[in-house]
Amino acid sequence: MCGIIACRTDRPATEYLRVGLRRLEYRGYDSVGIAVRTAGGGIARLRTTERIGALDTLLDRWTGPRFDGLGIGHTRWATHGVVSEGNAHPHTDCANQISVVHNGIIVNAVALRARLARAGHKFVTTVDSEVLCHLIEDERRAGDLLQAVQNALASVQGSWALAVLEHATGRIVLAANGSPLLVAHTADGDFAASDIAAIADWVDEYRVLGDGDIVDLTDQDTWRHCGAAIPPPMATRSLWRGGDVELDGYADYMAKEIDEQPEAVARILDELGDGIATGALWNGLGLPPFERLRMLGCGTSLNAGNVLGNLARRLGGVPASATLASEAGGEVADTGQLCLAISQSGETADVLRAMQSSAVGESPVVAITNNVHSTLARRADAVVGCSAGPEIGVAATKTFICQVVTGSALLLSALVATKRLSTPSAMGFVDDLRRLPDQLATAAAVARCVVPTMVDGLLAESGFIFIARGLGLPYAAEGALKLTELTYRWAECYAAGELKHGPLALIGAGTPVIVIENGDPRLAANTAEVQARGARVISIGLPGSAVPVIENHTAPWGPIVATVPLQILARTMALALGHDVDKPRNLAKSVTVE
Ligand code: F6R
Repeated sequence: MCGIIACRTDRPATEYLRVGLRRLEYRGYDSVGIAVRTAGGGIARLRTTERIGALDTLLDRWTGPRFDGLGIGHTRWATHGVVSEGNAHPHTDCANQISVVHNGIIVNAVALRARLARAGHKFVTTVDSEVLCHLIEDERRAGDLLQAVQNALASVQGSWALAVLEHATGRIVLAANGSPLLVAHTADGDFAASDIAAIADWVDEYRVLGDGDIVDLTDQDTWRHCGAAIPPPMATRSLWRGGDVELDGYADYMAKEIDEQPEAVARILDELGDGIATGALWNGLGLPPFERLRMLGCGTSLNAGNVLGNLARRLGGVPASATLASEAGGEVADTGQLCLAISQSGETADVLRAMQSSAVGESPVVAITNNVHSTLARRADAVVGCSAGPEIGVAATKTFICQVVTGSALLLSALVATKRLSTPSAMGFVDDLRRLPDQLATAAAVARCVVPTMVDGLLAESGFIFIARGLGLPYAAEGALKLTELTYRWAECYAAGELKHGPLALIGAGTPVIVIENGDPRLAANTAEVQARGARVISIGLPGSAVPVIENHTAPWGPIVATVPLQILARTMALALGHDVDKPRNLAKSVTVE
Protein backbone atom coordinates (compact mmCIF):
# COMPACT_ATOMS: atom_id res chain seq x y z
CA MET A 1 0.00 0.00 0.00
CA CYS A 2 1.05 3.65 0.04
CA GLY A 3 4.53 4.49 1.28
CA ILE A 4 6.18 7.72 2.39
CA ILE A 5 9.76 8.85 2.56
CA ALA A 6 11.15 12.28 3.47
CA CYS A 7 14.74 13.40 3.80
CA ARG A 8 16.93 16.29 4.75
CA THR A 9 20.42 15.44 3.56
CA ASP A 10 23.64 17.15 2.50
CA ARG A 11 23.76 15.31 -0.80
CA PRO A 12 20.93 15.69 -3.35
CA ALA A 13 17.70 14.28 -1.89
CA THR A 14 17.01 12.41 -5.11
CA GLU A 15 19.90 10.04 -4.36
CA TYR A 16 18.03 8.88 -1.25
CA LEU A 17 14.48 9.12 -2.53
CA ARG A 18 15.24 6.89 -5.52
CA VAL A 19 16.62 4.15 -3.26
CA GLY A 20 13.94 4.58 -0.61
CA LEU A 21 11.05 4.42 -3.06
CA ARG A 22 12.51 1.29 -4.59
CA ARG A 23 12.69 -0.24 -1.13
CA LEU A 24 8.95 0.52 -0.75
CA GLU A 25 8.04 -1.19 -4.03
CA TYR A 26 7.29 -4.47 -2.28
CA ARG A 27 4.25 -2.94 -0.59
CA GLY A 28 2.50 -2.67 -3.96
CA TYR A 29 1.80 0.66 -5.71
CA ASP A 30 0.27 2.08 -8.84
CA SER A 31 1.98 5.45 -9.07
CA VAL A 32 4.98 7.16 -7.59
CA GLY A 33 6.13 10.76 -7.13
CA ILE A 34 8.59 13.10 -5.47
CA ALA A 35 8.89 16.78 -4.66
CA VAL A 36 12.47 18.01 -4.23
CA ARG A 37 13.87 21.46 -3.59
CA THR A 38 16.25 22.79 -6.17
CA ALA A 39 19.14 25.19 -5.75
CA GLY A 40 17.60 28.64 -5.57
CA GLY A 41 14.54 27.44 -3.66
CA GLY A 42 12.39 26.10 -6.52
CA ILE A 43 10.56 22.80 -6.40
CA ALA A 44 10.75 19.90 -8.84
CA ARG A 45 7.66 17.73 -8.69
CA LEU A 46 7.97 14.54 -10.74
CA ARG A 47 5.26 11.88 -10.85
CA THR A 48 4.43 8.84 -12.93
CA THR A 49 1.90 6.02 -13.09
CA GLU A 50 4.61 3.69 -14.34
CA ARG A 51 7.14 1.76 -12.27
CA ILE A 52 9.89 3.45 -10.31
CA GLY A 53 12.25 2.94 -13.25
CA ALA A 54 10.19 5.58 -15.09
CA LEU A 55 10.83 8.04 -12.26
CA ASP A 56 14.54 7.26 -12.54
CA THR A 57 14.34 8.13 -16.24
CA LEU A 58 12.65 11.46 -15.46
CA LEU A 59 15.42 12.24 -12.99
CA ASP A 60 18.18 11.16 -15.38
CA ARG A 61 16.76 13.48 -18.02
CA TRP A 62 16.36 16.40 -15.62
CA THR A 63 17.95 19.53 -17.06
CA GLY A 64 16.67 22.00 -14.47
CA PRO A 65 18.58 23.46 -11.54
CA ARG A 66 20.58 21.20 -9.24
CA PHE A 67 18.62 19.31 -6.54
CA ASP A 68 19.32 20.14 -2.93
CA GLY A 69 18.92 17.77 0.02
CA LEU A 70 15.27 18.37 0.90
CA GLY A 71 12.58 16.18 -0.53
CA ILE A 72 9.58 13.96 -0.01
CA GLY A 73 8.41 10.92 -1.98
CA HIS A 74 5.42 8.61 -2.15
CA THR A 75 4.24 5.34 -3.62
CA ARG A 76 0.46 5.37 -4.08
CA TRP A 77 -1.97 2.46 -4.01
CA ALA A 78 -5.22 4.03 -5.18
CA THR A 79 -8.20 4.11 -2.83
CA HIS A 80 -9.89 7.46 -3.57
CA GLY A 81 -9.60 8.56 -7.19
CA VAL A 82 -8.37 6.74 -10.27
CA VAL A 83 -4.75 5.91 -10.95
CA SER A 84 -3.41 8.96 -12.80
CA GLU A 85 -0.40 11.20 -12.71
CA GLY A 86 -2.59 14.01 -11.40
CA ASN A 87 -3.78 11.91 -8.49
CA ALA A 88 -0.24 10.74 -7.63
CA HIS A 89 1.39 12.36 -4.60
CA PRO A 90 2.93 14.79 -3.72
CA HIS A 91 0.04 17.25 -3.87
CA THR A 92 0.28 21.00 -3.52
CA ASP A 93 -1.83 23.93 -2.34
CA CYS A 94 -3.29 26.61 -4.65
CA ALA A 95 -0.25 28.88 -4.35
CA ASN A 96 2.23 25.99 -4.77
CA GLN A 97 3.96 26.83 -1.51
CA ILE A 98 3.85 23.40 0.11
CA SER A 99 3.97 19.78 -1.09
CA VAL A 100 2.26 17.01 0.84
CA VAL A 101 2.49 13.21 0.84
CA HIS A 102 -0.15 11.34 2.81
CA ASN A 103 -0.95 7.75 3.77
CA GLY A 104 -4.32 6.95 5.31
CA ILE A 105 -7.90 7.95 4.73
CA ILE A 106 -9.58 11.30 5.36
CA VAL A 107 -13.05 10.22 6.41
CA ASN A 108 -14.60 13.70 6.22
CA ALA A 109 -12.84 14.63 2.95
CA VAL A 110 -16.08 15.32 1.07
CA ALA A 111 -17.30 17.85 3.63
CA LEU A 112 -13.87 19.48 3.93
CA ARG A 113 -13.50 19.69 0.15
CA ALA A 114 -16.90 21.39 -0.19
CA ARG A 115 -16.05 23.87 2.57
CA LEU A 116 -12.63 24.66 1.10
CA ALA A 117 -13.99 24.97 -2.44
CA ARG A 118 -16.63 27.43 -1.19
CA ALA A 119 -13.80 29.44 0.35
CA GLY A 120 -12.15 29.66 -3.09
CA HIS A 121 -9.62 26.80 -3.06
CA LYS A 122 -9.04 25.15 -6.43
CA PHE A 123 -8.91 21.35 -6.37
CA VAL A 124 -6.97 19.65 -9.14
CA THR A 125 -7.25 16.00 -8.06
CA THR A 126 -9.97 13.62 -6.93
CA VAL A 127 -8.00 12.24 -3.96
CA ASP A 128 -8.95 12.83 -0.34
CA SER A 129 -5.37 13.79 0.56
CA GLU A 130 -5.59 17.05 -1.37
CA VAL A 131 -7.81 18.60 1.29
CA LEU A 132 -4.80 18.53 3.62
CA CYS A 133 -2.85 20.86 1.30
CA HIS A 134 -5.62 23.45 1.31
CA LEU A 135 -6.31 23.20 5.02
CA ILE A 136 -2.61 23.74 5.76
CA GLU A 137 -2.50 26.55 3.19
CA ASP A 138 -5.20 28.44 5.11
CA GLU A 139 -3.51 27.88 8.44
CA ARG A 140 -0.07 28.87 7.11
CA ARG A 141 -1.31 32.41 6.59
CA ALA A 142 -0.83 32.84 10.34
CA GLY A 143 2.86 31.85 10.01
CA ASP A 144 4.52 28.80 11.43
CA LEU A 145 4.28 25.54 9.41
CA LEU A 146 4.26 23.21 12.42
CA GLN A 147 1.44 25.18 14.04
CA ALA A 148 -0.39 25.28 10.70
CA VAL A 149 -0.22 21.49 10.37
CA GLN A 150 -1.48 21.09 13.92
CA ASN A 151 -4.37 23.51 13.38
CA ALA A 152 -5.28 21.97 10.03
CA LEU A 153 -5.43 18.45 11.44
CA ALA A 154 -7.83 19.56 14.17
CA SER A 155 -10.68 19.48 11.64
CA VAL A 156 -9.65 16.20 9.99
CA GLN A 157 -11.24 12.85 10.80
CA GLY A 158 -9.50 9.67 9.72
CA SER A 159 -5.97 8.35 9.67
CA TRP A 160 -2.79 9.92 8.44
CA ALA A 161 0.93 9.69 8.15
CA LEU A 162 1.99 12.83 6.36
CA ALA A 163 5.03 14.81 5.40
CA VAL A 164 4.71 18.46 4.43
CA LEU A 165 7.53 20.23 2.60
CA GLU A 166 7.50 24.02 2.77
CA HIS A 167 8.99 25.19 -0.51
CA ALA A 168 10.43 28.54 0.56
CA THR A 169 12.19 27.32 3.71
CA GLY A 170 12.72 23.63 2.92
CA ARG A 171 11.23 22.79 6.30
CA ILE A 172 9.60 19.36 6.59
CA VAL A 173 6.86 18.71 9.14
CA LEU A 174 5.52 15.22 9.86
CA ALA A 175 2.33 14.06 11.53
CA ALA A 176 0.80 10.68 12.32
CA ASN A 177 -2.49 9.29 13.50
CA GLY A 178 -3.43 5.64 13.02
CA SER A 179 -0.89 5.21 10.23
CA PRO A 180 2.79 4.40 10.82
CA LEU A 181 5.54 6.99 10.50
CA LEU A 182 9.04 7.03 11.93
CA VAL A 183 12.01 9.41 11.98
CA ALA A 184 15.73 8.78 12.13
CA HIS A 185 18.90 10.85 12.32
CA THR A 186 21.96 9.42 10.63
CA ALA A 187 25.35 10.37 9.30
CA ASP A 188 23.67 10.79 5.91
CA GLY A 189 21.02 13.18 7.23
CA ASP A 190 17.53 13.17 8.72
CA PHE A 191 14.90 10.81 7.40
CA ALA A 192 11.25 9.97 7.85
CA ALA A 193 9.40 7.01 6.40
CA SER A 194 6.23 5.03 6.79
CA ASP A 195 8.19 1.79 6.72
CA ILE A 196 11.71 1.17 8.00
CA ALA A 197 12.44 -0.70 4.76
CA ALA A 198 12.52 2.65 2.91
CA ILE A 199 15.45 4.02 4.90
CA ALA A 200 17.11 0.85 6.15
CA ASP A 201 20.20 1.55 4.04
CA TRP A 202 21.19 4.51 6.23
CA VAL A 203 19.44 3.99 9.56
CA ASP A 204 20.56 2.11 12.68
CA GLU A 205 17.84 3.35 15.00
CA TYR A 206 14.60 5.26 14.68
CA ARG A 207 11.72 6.75 16.65
CA VAL A 208 8.08 5.99 15.96
CA LEU A 209 5.45 8.74 15.97
CA GLY A 210 2.51 8.04 18.26
CA ASP A 211 -1.08 8.85 17.32
CA GLY A 212 -1.52 12.63 17.35
CA ASP A 213 2.22 13.41 17.22
CA ILE A 214 3.59 16.22 15.05
CA VAL A 215 7.32 16.46 14.42
CA ASP A 216 9.64 18.98 12.79
CA LEU A 217 12.23 17.01 10.81
CA THR A 218 15.38 18.74 11.96
CA ASP A 219 18.44 17.20 13.55
CA GLN A 220 16.91 18.30 16.88
CA ASP A 221 13.37 17.07 16.23
CA THR A 222 10.64 19.14 17.84
CA TRP A 223 7.91 16.73 18.96
CA ARG A 224 4.42 17.85 19.81
CA HIS A 225 1.40 15.95 20.96
CA CYS A 226 -2.03 17.58 21.18
CA GLY A 227 -0.42 21.01 21.02
CA ALA A 228 2.11 20.44 23.82
CA ALA A 229 5.84 19.90 23.40
CA ILE A 230 6.86 16.36 24.38
CA PRO A 231 10.24 14.64 24.59
CA PRO A 232 10.96 12.37 21.61
CA PRO A 233 10.15 8.71 22.34
CA MET A 234 12.85 6.11 22.96
CA ALA A 235 14.80 5.06 19.90
CA THR A 236 14.34 1.57 18.50
CA ARG A 237 17.15 -0.38 16.87
CA SER A 238 16.47 -1.22 13.26
CA LEU A 239 16.48 -4.93 12.50
CA TRP A 240 16.39 -4.21 8.77
CA ARG A 241 19.41 -3.78 6.59
CA GLY A 242 19.22 -2.34 3.10
CA GLY A 243 20.56 -5.67 1.82
CA ASP A 244 17.59 -7.51 3.33
CA VAL A 245 15.60 -6.44 0.36
CA GLU A 246 18.10 -7.78 -2.17
CA LEU A 247 17.29 -10.93 -4.11
CA ASP A 248 20.66 -12.58 -3.36
CA GLY A 249 20.63 -14.48 -6.63
CA TYR A 250 17.01 -15.68 -6.36
CA ALA A 251 14.65 -15.17 -9.28
CA ASP A 252 12.04 -13.60 -7.01
CA TYR A 253 11.41 -12.82 -3.34
CA MET A 254 8.85 -15.56 -3.01
CA ALA A 255 11.47 -18.20 -3.86
CA LYS A 256 13.90 -16.60 -1.44
CA GLU A 257 11.35 -16.38 1.34
CA ILE A 258 10.18 -19.98 0.92
CA ASP A 259 13.83 -21.02 1.28
CA GLU A 260 14.23 -18.87 4.39
CA GLN A 261 11.49 -20.73 6.28
CA PRO A 262 13.67 -23.37 8.00
CA GLU A 263 16.11 -20.74 9.23
CA ALA A 264 13.28 -18.51 10.46
CA VAL A 265 11.70 -21.36 12.45
CA ALA A 266 15.07 -22.24 13.98
CA ARG A 267 15.47 -18.58 14.98
CA ILE A 268 12.06 -18.49 16.68
CA LEU A 269 12.88 -21.61 18.65
CA ASP A 270 16.24 -20.16 19.67
CA GLU A 271 14.43 -17.08 20.93
CA LEU A 272 11.38 -18.66 22.55
CA GLY A 273 12.25 -22.33 23.01
CA ASP A 274 13.39 -22.19 26.62
CA GLY A 275 10.24 -20.43 27.80
CA ILE A 276 7.77 -22.92 26.29
CA ALA A 277 7.76 -26.00 28.53
CA THR A 278 8.39 -23.91 31.65
CA GLY A 279 5.44 -21.62 31.00
CA ALA A 280 7.82 -18.66 31.27
CA LEU A 281 7.00 -17.33 27.81
CA TRP A 282 3.34 -16.94 28.78
CA ASN A 283 4.04 -15.77 32.36
CA GLY A 284 6.37 -13.07 31.04
CA LEU A 285 3.47 -11.40 29.24
CA GLY A 286 1.77 -10.60 32.56
CA LEU A 287 -1.73 -11.41 31.28
CA PRO A 288 -4.65 -12.73 33.33
CA PRO A 289 -5.75 -16.39 33.03
CA PHE A 290 -8.21 -17.12 30.22
CA GLU A 291 -11.10 -19.49 29.68
CA ARG A 292 -11.41 -19.22 25.92
CA LEU A 293 -9.58 -17.86 22.94
CA ARG A 294 -10.61 -15.67 20.04
CA MET A 295 -8.23 -15.31 17.12
CA LEU A 296 -8.54 -12.18 14.97
CA GLY A 297 -6.95 -11.79 11.56
CA CYS A 298 -7.42 -11.61 7.82
CA GLY A 299 -6.41 -13.86 4.94
CA THR A 300 -3.30 -15.87 5.64
CA SER A 301 -3.09 -14.60 9.20
CA LEU A 302 -6.57 -15.91 9.93
CA ASN A 303 -5.51 -19.28 8.53
CA ALA A 304 -2.69 -19.23 11.08
CA GLY A 305 -5.30 -18.32 13.70
CA ASN A 306 -7.32 -21.41 12.80
CA VAL A 307 -4.23 -23.58 13.29
CA LEU A 308 -3.80 -22.07 16.76
CA GLY A 309 -7.46 -22.57 17.61
CA ASN A 310 -7.15 -26.26 16.73
CA LEU A 311 -4.11 -26.57 18.99
CA ALA A 312 -5.79 -24.88 21.96
CA ARG A 313 -8.91 -27.05 21.67
CA ARG A 314 -7.04 -30.29 21.14
CA LEU A 315 -4.32 -29.96 23.78
CA GLY A 316 -5.95 -27.78 26.39
CA GLY A 317 -9.66 -28.29 25.87
CA VAL A 318 -9.88 -24.51 25.50
CA PRO A 319 -12.88 -23.29 23.47
CA ALA A 320 -11.48 -21.26 20.60
CA SER A 321 -12.99 -19.38 17.68
CA ALA A 322 -11.42 -17.55 14.77
CA THR A 323 -13.03 -14.26 13.79
CA LEU A 324 -12.54 -12.52 10.48
CA ALA A 325 -11.27 -9.13 11.55
CA SER A 326 -13.42 -7.36 8.98
CA GLU A 327 -16.55 -8.95 10.50
CA ALA A 328 -15.62 -8.59 14.16
CA GLY A 329 -18.22 -5.87 14.65
CA GLY A 330 -20.97 -8.48 14.44
CA GLU A 331 -19.54 -10.66 17.22
CA VAL A 332 -19.95 -10.54 20.99
CA ALA A 333 -17.02 -10.91 23.40
CA ASP A 334 -17.09 -14.04 25.58
CA THR A 335 -16.45 -13.92 29.32
CA GLY A 336 -12.88 -14.88 30.20
CA GLN A 337 -11.76 -14.48 26.63
CA LEU A 338 -8.20 -13.81 25.47
CA CYS A 339 -7.81 -12.39 21.96
CA LEU A 340 -4.88 -13.26 19.73
CA ALA A 341 -4.62 -10.57 17.04
CA ILE A 342 -2.49 -12.02 14.26
CA SER A 343 -1.02 -9.80 11.57
CA GLN A 344 2.35 -9.96 9.86
CA SER A 345 2.35 -6.22 9.14
CA GLY A 346 0.64 -5.12 12.34
CA GLU A 347 -0.91 -2.33 10.27
CA THR A 348 -3.95 -4.07 8.78
CA ALA A 349 -6.83 -1.64 9.19
CA ASP A 350 -9.41 -4.41 9.60
CA VAL A 351 -7.44 -5.86 12.51
CA LEU A 352 -6.93 -2.49 14.16
CA ARG A 353 -10.64 -1.79 13.87
CA ALA A 354 -11.49 -5.25 15.20
CA MET A 355 -9.54 -4.48 18.36
CA GLN A 356 -12.09 -1.77 19.12
CA SER A 357 -15.05 -3.98 18.22
CA SER A 358 -17.65 -5.82 20.27
CA ALA A 359 -15.79 -9.07 19.53
CA VAL A 360 -12.95 -7.86 21.75
CA GLY A 361 -14.74 -5.67 24.26
CA GLU A 362 -12.62 -5.43 27.42
CA SER A 363 -10.71 -8.67 26.82
CA PRO A 364 -6.92 -8.58 26.75
CA VAL A 365 -5.26 -8.73 23.33
CA VAL A 366 -1.95 -10.37 22.48
CA ALA A 367 -0.48 -9.25 19.16
CA ILE A 368 1.35 -11.92 17.18
CA THR A 369 3.11 -9.86 14.55
CA ASN A 370 6.24 -9.62 12.47
CA ASN A 371 6.41 -5.90 13.24
CA VAL A 372 6.82 -5.38 16.97
CA HIS A 373 6.72 -1.58 16.54
CA SER A 374 3.53 -1.57 14.53
CA THR A 375 0.28 0.11 15.48
CA LEU A 376 -1.14 -3.29 16.44
CA ALA A 377 1.82 -3.98 18.72
CA ARG A 378 1.49 -0.58 20.36
CA ARG A 379 -2.22 -1.00 20.96
CA ALA A 380 -2.14 -4.60 22.22
CA ASP A 381 -1.77 -5.57 25.87
CA ALA A 382 1.16 -7.84 25.04
CA VAL A 383 3.24 -8.58 21.94
CA VAL A 384 5.02 -11.67 20.70
CA GLY A 385 7.19 -11.07 17.63
CA CYS A 386 7.21 -13.63 14.82
CA SER A 387 10.87 -13.07 13.90
CA ALA A 388 10.32 -13.95 10.26
CA GLY A 389 12.60 -11.13 9.13
CA PRO A 390 11.65 -8.91 6.18
CA GLU A 391 9.08 -10.42 3.84
CA ILE A 392 8.96 -8.61 0.52
CA GLY A 393 6.71 -10.88 -1.54
CA VAL A 394 3.15 -9.62 -1.25
CA ALA A 395 1.85 -13.16 -0.76
CA ALA A 396 2.69 -14.24 2.77
CA THR A 397 4.94 -17.30 2.93
CA LYS A 398 7.47 -17.35 5.73
CA THR A 399 5.38 -15.05 7.90
CA PHE A 400 2.59 -17.66 7.86
CA ILE A 401 4.95 -20.42 8.98
CA CYS A 402 6.37 -18.10 11.64
CA GLN A 403 2.92 -17.08 12.89
CA VAL A 404 2.03 -20.75 13.33
CA VAL A 405 5.27 -21.61 15.10
CA THR A 406 5.30 -18.50 17.31
CA GLY A 407 1.63 -18.87 18.17
CA SER A 408 2.07 -22.59 18.90
CA ALA A 409 5.01 -21.80 21.18
CA LEU A 410 2.95 -19.19 22.99
CA LEU A 411 -0.07 -21.45 23.43
CA LEU A 412 1.98 -24.43 24.59
CA SER A 413 3.56 -22.15 27.16
CA ALA A 414 0.16 -20.77 28.20
CA LEU A 415 -1.29 -24.27 28.58
CA VAL A 416 1.62 -25.29 30.81
CA ALA A 417 1.36 -22.10 32.87
CA THR A 418 -2.38 -22.59 33.36
CA LYS A 419 -1.92 -26.29 34.23
CA ARG A 420 -3.74 -27.60 31.20
CA LEU A 421 -0.65 -29.33 29.83
CA SER A 422 2.15 -31.10 31.68
CA THR A 423 5.73 -29.94 31.34
CA PRO A 424 6.93 -33.34 30.02
CA SER A 425 4.26 -33.29 27.31
CA ALA A 426 5.21 -29.74 26.39
CA MET A 427 8.87 -30.77 26.22
CA GLY A 428 7.93 -33.48 23.73
CA PHE A 429 6.17 -30.87 21.57
CA VAL A 430 9.17 -28.55 21.78
CA ASP A 431 11.32 -31.42 20.46
CA ASP A 432 8.84 -31.82 17.60
CA LEU A 433 9.04 -28.09 16.87
CA ARG A 434 12.83 -28.28 16.82
CA ARG A 435 12.61 -30.92 14.09
CA LEU A 436 10.56 -28.61 11.89
CA PRO A 437 13.43 -26.71 10.20
CA ASP A 438 14.79 -29.96 8.73
CA GLN A 439 11.32 -31.15 7.78
CA LEU A 440 10.57 -27.87 6.02
CA ALA A 441 13.85 -28.05 4.11
CA THR A 442 13.15 -31.62 3.04
CA ALA A 443 9.61 -30.69 2.01
CA ALA A 444 11.01 -27.92 -0.18
CA ALA A 445 13.46 -30.32 -1.83
CA VAL A 446 10.73 -32.90 -2.50
CA ALA A 447 8.25 -30.31 -3.76
CA ARG A 448 10.78 -28.73 -6.09
CA CYS A 449 11.29 -32.09 -7.76
CA VAL A 450 7.69 -33.23 -7.96
CA VAL A 451 5.45 -30.18 -8.26
CA PRO A 452 6.82 -28.70 -11.52
CA THR A 453 6.08 -31.99 -13.31
CA MET A 454 2.38 -31.53 -12.46
CA VAL A 455 1.99 -27.92 -13.44
CA ASP A 456 1.77 -28.18 -17.23
CA GLY A 457 -1.35 -30.27 -16.94
CA LEU A 458 -2.99 -27.69 -14.67
CA LEU A 459 -2.40 -24.45 -16.54
CA ALA A 460 -5.57 -24.65 -18.59
CA GLU A 461 -7.78 -25.26 -15.56
CA SER A 462 -9.96 -22.37 -14.45
CA GLY A 463 -10.82 -23.69 -10.99
CA PHE A 464 -9.23 -25.72 -8.21
CA ILE A 465 -10.65 -27.42 -5.15
CA PHE A 466 -8.69 -28.00 -1.97
CA ILE A 467 -9.95 -30.47 0.60
CA ALA A 468 -8.79 -31.59 4.01
CA ARG A 469 -10.11 -32.64 7.38
CA GLY A 470 -9.40 -31.55 10.94
CA LEU A 471 -5.98 -30.08 11.53
CA GLY A 472 -5.27 -30.09 7.80
CA LEU A 473 -8.07 -27.66 6.98
CA PRO A 474 -6.31 -24.34 7.67
CA TYR A 475 -3.42 -25.48 5.49
CA ALA A 476 -5.76 -26.40 2.66
CA ALA A 477 -7.34 -22.94 3.03
CA GLU A 478 -3.89 -21.37 2.88
CA GLY A 479 -3.02 -23.40 -0.23
CA ALA A 480 -6.21 -22.25 -1.95
CA LEU A 481 -5.59 -18.62 -0.99
CA LYS A 482 -2.02 -18.75 -2.29
CA LEU A 483 -3.12 -20.29 -5.58
CA THR A 484 -5.90 -17.73 -6.03
CA GLU A 485 -3.80 -14.66 -5.37
CA LEU A 486 -0.87 -15.74 -7.52
CA THR A 487 -2.53 -17.47 -10.48
CA TYR A 488 -5.74 -15.35 -10.58
CA ARG A 489 -7.72 -18.64 -10.87
CA TRP A 490 -10.60 -19.71 -8.65
CA ALA A 491 -9.54 -21.95 -5.80
CA GLU A 492 -11.91 -23.01 -3.04
CA CYS A 493 -11.19 -24.91 0.13
CA TYR A 494 -13.77 -27.30 1.59
CA ALA A 495 -13.87 -29.55 4.60
CA ALA A 496 -13.80 -32.91 2.81
CA GLY A 497 -16.94 -34.07 4.64
CA GLU A 498 -18.86 -31.14 3.19
CA LEU A 499 -18.34 -32.11 -0.45
CA LYS A 500 -21.42 -34.29 -0.59
CA HIS A 501 -23.52 -31.43 0.79
CA GLY A 502 -23.03 -29.30 -2.30
CA PRO A 503 -19.55 -28.73 -3.73
CA LEU A 504 -19.43 -32.22 -5.24
CA ALA A 505 -21.53 -30.71 -8.03
CA LEU A 506 -18.41 -28.83 -9.14
CA ILE A 507 -16.45 -32.00 -9.81
CA GLY A 508 -16.26 -33.20 -13.40
CA ALA A 509 -13.73 -34.92 -15.63
CA GLY A 510 -10.27 -33.56 -14.84
CA THR A 511 -11.29 -31.09 -12.09
CA PRO A 512 -8.14 -30.58 -10.02
CA VAL A 513 -8.67 -31.52 -6.38
CA ILE A 514 -5.75 -30.98 -4.03
CA VAL A 515 -6.02 -33.17 -0.92
CA ILE A 516 -4.06 -32.50 2.25
CA GLU A 517 -3.44 -36.10 3.24
CA ASN A 518 -2.69 -35.93 6.96
CA GLY A 519 -3.67 -39.43 7.93
CA ASP A 520 -7.34 -38.84 8.74
CA PRO A 521 -8.92 -42.22 7.86
CA ARG A 522 -12.09 -40.58 6.54
CA LEU A 523 -10.22 -38.70 3.81
CA ALA A 524 -9.81 -41.84 1.70
CA ALA A 525 -13.57 -42.10 1.20
CA ASN A 526 -13.84 -38.42 0.27
CA THR A 527 -10.97 -38.76 -2.18
CA ALA A 528 -12.68 -41.79 -3.71
CA GLU A 529 -15.88 -39.73 -4.12
CA VAL A 530 -14.15 -37.12 -6.26
CA GLN A 531 -12.10 -39.68 -8.16
CA ALA A 532 -15.29 -41.56 -9.02
CA ARG A 533 -16.49 -38.37 -10.70
CA GLY A 534 -13.35 -37.97 -12.78
CA ALA A 535 -11.41 -35.49 -10.63
CA ARG A 536 -7.69 -35.19 -11.03
CA VAL A 537 -6.47 -35.73 -7.46
CA ILE A 538 -3.16 -34.34 -6.24
CA SER A 539 -2.43 -35.56 -2.75
CA ILE A 540 0.04 -33.76 -0.55
CA GLY A 541 1.03 -35.42 2.66
CA LEU A 542 2.11 -38.74 4.09
CA PRO A 543 4.31 -41.29 2.31
CA GLY A 544 2.32 -42.68 -0.62
CA SER A 545 0.94 -39.24 -1.52
CA ALA A 546 1.80 -37.66 -4.86
CA VAL A 547 3.87 -35.10 -2.92
CA PRO A 548 5.06 -37.02 0.15
CA VAL A 549 6.24 -34.39 2.65
CA ILE A 550 4.53 -35.10 5.98
CA GLU A 551 6.52 -37.09 8.54
CA ASN A 552 4.72 -36.19 11.77
CA HIS A 553 0.96 -36.34 11.31
CA THR A 554 0.14 -36.20 15.02
CA ALA A 555 1.54 -32.75 15.81
CA PRO A 556 -1.10 -30.51 17.43
CA TRP A 557 -0.30 -27.72 14.93
CA GLY A 558 -1.25 -30.07 12.09
CA PRO A 559 0.54 -30.75 8.79
CA ILE A 560 2.50 -27.49 8.62
CA VAL A 561 5.05 -28.86 6.14
CA ALA A 562 2.28 -29.29 3.54
CA THR A 563 2.45 -25.50 3.26
CA VAL A 564 5.71 -25.72 1.35
CA PRO A 565 4.49 -27.71 -1.68
CA LEU A 566 1.34 -25.59 -1.70
CA GLN A 567 3.48 -22.44 -1.91
CA ILE A 568 5.63 -24.00 -4.61
CA LEU A 569 2.57 -25.12 -6.57
CA ALA A 570 1.14 -21.58 -6.55
CA ARG A 571 4.48 -20.00 -7.46
CA THR A 572 5.31 -22.48 -10.24
CA MET A 573 1.89 -22.11 -11.84
CA ALA A 574 1.95 -18.32 -11.57
CA LEU A 575 5.36 -18.13 -13.22
CA ALA A 576 4.23 -20.48 -15.98
CA LEU A 577 1.26 -18.16 -16.55
CA GLY A 578 3.61 -15.21 -16.81
CA HIS A 579 2.59 -13.49 -13.56
CA ASP A 580 4.74 -11.49 -11.21
CA VAL A 581 4.76 -13.73 -8.13
CA ASP A 582 6.03 -10.98 -5.84
CA LYS A 583 3.42 -8.42 -6.82
CA PRO A 584 0.11 -10.10 -7.62
CA ARG A 585 -2.32 -7.77 -9.34
CA ASN A 586 -4.57 -5.59 -7.16
CA LEU A 587 -2.94 -6.70 -3.91
CA ALA A 588 -0.74 -4.91 -1.41
CA LYS A 589 1.54 -6.06 1.36
CA SER A 590 0.15 -3.95 4.13
CA VAL A 591 -3.58 -3.35 3.83
CA THR A 592 -4.20 -0.08 5.61
CA VAL A 593 -7.76 0.48 4.36
CA GLU A 594 -10.91 -1.24 5.63
C1 F6R B 1 -2.06 -13.54 1.53
C2 F6R B 1 -1.80 -12.42 2.37
C3 F6R B 1 -2.96 -11.72 2.98
C4 F6R B 1 -2.62 -11.23 4.38
C5 F6R B 1 -3.75 -10.34 4.91
C6 F6R B 1 -3.49 -9.90 6.33
O1 F6R B 1 -0.87 -14.08 1.04
O2 F6R B 1 -0.68 -12.03 2.57
O3 F6R B 1 -4.09 -12.53 3.00
O4 F6R B 1 -2.43 -12.33 5.21
O5 F6R B 1 -3.87 -9.22 4.09
O6 F6R B 1 -2.30 -9.18 6.41
P1 F6R B 1 -1.56 -9.02 7.78
O7 F6R B 1 -1.03 -10.34 8.18
O8 F6R B 1 -0.47 -8.02 7.51
O9 F6R B 1 -2.57 -8.51 8.76
